[in-house]
Amino acid sequence: MKQEKKPWAGRFEKETQPLVEAFTESVSFDWRLYKQDIQGSIAHSTMLAACGLLSSEERDDIIRALKEIQKEIESNHFKFSKKLEDVHMNIEAALIERIGETGEKLHTARSRNDQVALDMRLWCREEIHSIIGLTEGLQRELVSKAGQYIETIIPGFTHLQHAQPVLLSHYLLAYVEMFERDKERLADCLSRVNKSPLGACALAGTTLPIDPAMTAKILGFQSICTNSVDATGDRDFCIEFASCLSILAMHVSRLAEEWILWCTEEFGFLDIDESLCTGSSIMPQKKNPDALELLRAKCARVYGGLVSLFTLMKALPLSYNRDMQEDKVAVFDMTSTVSASLKLLCVIVRGVSFKVDNIKMACEKGFLDATALAEYLVQKGLPFRQAHEVVGKIVKKALKDKKKLAGLSVDEFKKFSSLIDSDVYDLLGVENCIKHYKGPSSTAPRAVRKRLTFWDNKLKT
Ligand code: ARG
Repeated sequence: MKQEKKPWAGRFEKETQPLVEAFTESVSFDWRLYKQDIQGSIAHSTMLAACGLLSSEERDDIIRALKEIQKEIESNHFKFSKKLEDVHMNIEAALIERIGETGEKLHTARSRNDQVALDMRLWCREEIHSIIGLTEGLQRELVSKAGQYIETIIPGFTHLQHAQPVLLSHYLLAYVEMFERDKERLADCLSRVNKSPLGACALAGTTLPIDPAMTAKILGFQSICTNSVDATGDRDFCIEFASCLSILAMHVSRLAEEWILWCTEEFGFLDIDESLCTGSSIMPQKKNPDALELLRAKCARVYGGLVSLFTLMKALPLSYNRDMQEDKVAVFDMTSTVSASLKLLCVIVRGVSFKVDNIKMACEKGFLDATALAEYLVQKGLPFRQAHEVVGKIVKKALKDKKKLAGLSVDEFKKFSSLIDSDVYDLLGVENCIKHYKGPSSTAPRAVRKRLTFWDNKLKT
């Protein structure tokens, strides 16, 4: 039978009330840290032995028992007890149960305050790598889709109104750029996550002769936290990670929203694979993009986590406060939500097909070539502001006559500007416009192909 005596029982006469135990426990969610907790304890006992605080036999016994406990947890045979509050005390109690007094030495020169900070840093580090990998997988799908539709021209939108013609591949690659920045942000955040708080103990350090640099090295940290109060009292590394996740979720929600619009009857730009849609319990004809809608919605939940963390830490006096136990609720939920979103979006992108005929028809509407016409006049020497006004008037006439710009004759054009000649037709119409774009960031086919090749090479596995 595992000891369920509280480690602080020495100072207490009364039992903890069950209500308090139930309210203050965290093992129901922080059990997820068992791997990091054991990894940290193995490194810690190795260091304690190297510093003469444990014998090598004691160290070996501890490590052997910790590995057995890990196996037991992973094979679902470990019983976590809420009476033991959190993952740290559950594992320590199991260790003591196995090896007695030697197990009682593990907590030498350590507090749960630096232990939990360590576990969270190790956990975030792993998740950052995993989310970067998932984001990269999504980028690959987008790049492959862009390659598949490299020639397709869509109406580009501003204010959700037709603006200028753009290659669909350019639109898709815009998301690839956003996700690249998300990866960069995560990698940058990692440099602040990747520090070891061990040695800080409760808040002040220890009087025992320890070697924090050694544990940091064993655990693959870049360096150690340089102030023990900060090391135990800080959770800005969680907030930073959560901020990265929030921006990433925001990007996912934009793509989701756009494609929800694009698969409406009104747009008719794309088809989501049927296996990824759901029907209606009453309307037999419906094929709803629920998965995309939930991708759009999950972002709210992720923001919720970020706000929780900010609020949790606001005005919290130094150093460790029990409030900080709640950080896990937010960080775990945000991470699993974003991971699941990325996995699902990957599959949706892979299965999407664009309705090129509908898109082509849409490109005929909304004078997508009007700006190109203004730029034509600029090339003929007219100042841009004047060119803008001339084309505005031409558009007004075309609207009245229900014509496209390319449907106007040279004589009709001449009534607005003598600078317009028959060479204007080389520029009008979306295909012509696209051909004339210039600049490395533009939607010029050459620029887009170049960027596509760049991404292809960069994201090669
Ligand atoms: N379970 C706590 C947490 O997640 C760690 C324990 C520190 N508790 C304490 N009373 N010093 O933050």
